[in-house]
Amino acid sequence: MIEIHNIHKSFNGKKVLDGVSGVFETGKTNLLLGASGTGKSVLLKCIVGLVKPDLGSVTFDGTYFTNNKLDIRQEIRRKIGMLFQGSALFDSMTVEENIEFPLKMLADMPRDERKDRVNFCLKRVGLENANKKMPSELSGGMKKRVGIARAIAPNCTYLFCDEPNSGLDPLTAIKIDELIAEITEEYGITTIIVTHDMNSVIEIGDKIMFLYQGKKLWEGTNDEIMDTDVPKLNEFIFANRLMRDAKKVDDDEENERLLQG
Ligand SMILES: Nc1ncnc2c1ncn2[C@@H]1O[C@H](COP(=O)(O)OP(=O)(O)OP(=O)(O)O)[C@@H](O)[C@H]1O
Ligand SMILES: [Mg+2]
Repeated sequence: MIEIHNIHKSFNGKKVLDGVSGVFETGKTNLLLGASGTGKSVLLKCIVGLVKPDLGSVTFDGTYFTNNKLDIRQEIRRKIGMLFQGSALFDSMTVEENIEFPLKMLADMPRDERKDRVNFCLKRVGLENANKKMPSELSGGMKKRVGIARAIAPNCTYLFCDEPNSGLDPLTAIKIDELIAEITEEYGITTIIVTHDMNSVIEIGDKIMFLYQGKKLWEGTNDEIMDTDVPKLNEFIFANRLMRDAKKVDDDEENERLLQG
């Protein structure tokens, strides 16, 4: 479980995060949802320690992280897997070398064991035998899968994904979402996914935090999100016609049920 408390961050006098608190649960896909520019990526960076918050604290399974001693922060960092926006694979390395990279950096693992771990992770993301391919030979969806394999390779306890399905077609996007959700549950990882994609919300939003202009306006599950009375959240959800139509069908059915007693 990751807990954040009263996170504030400004850049050049402009407030980007304005006192965000919340809990991200273990074994769940926790979504950070919100429009572009609302501070999702900055919050994710504050949580993993890539950006230092001006105020507030982050705790990983009860261990205080934010301003703790370097060795304690490093110990927590070792347990973090990260899937960056656009996958960010090393272009000059093969798939296998990409996945092996964090194992060489972070874990003191013999070569044979590393190779086994690479093969295990590749199999888990459905890319057996892609070891020797170069990133340039892969489709967008395959690159994301390699990014996920690299993130989970060191047996991460915490997994952070910034827009994991951006740039993918809707079907591939859902497959990537589902893969992350399955891995999260299977290995009991605390996963935080940054997204602005309502498809992800519907498919995998165990727990959702909605950010608006640096503040948390709502949190709940994907079952609850369609029925909120938070105007900014409703504006966001029902921005497209399909979602408005879905809501109308839902409301009509509800009215019919009420009429029929
Ligand atoms: N290092 C930085 N220096 C100055 N301003 C920054 C920095 N990082 C982020 N910002 C600003 O903080 C605001 C929030 O940015 P952030 O990247 O968190 O948005 P986001 O919600 O992730 O949006 P998107 O969905 O487009 O990725 C933006 O106005 C951005 O310009
Ligand atoms: Mg972002």
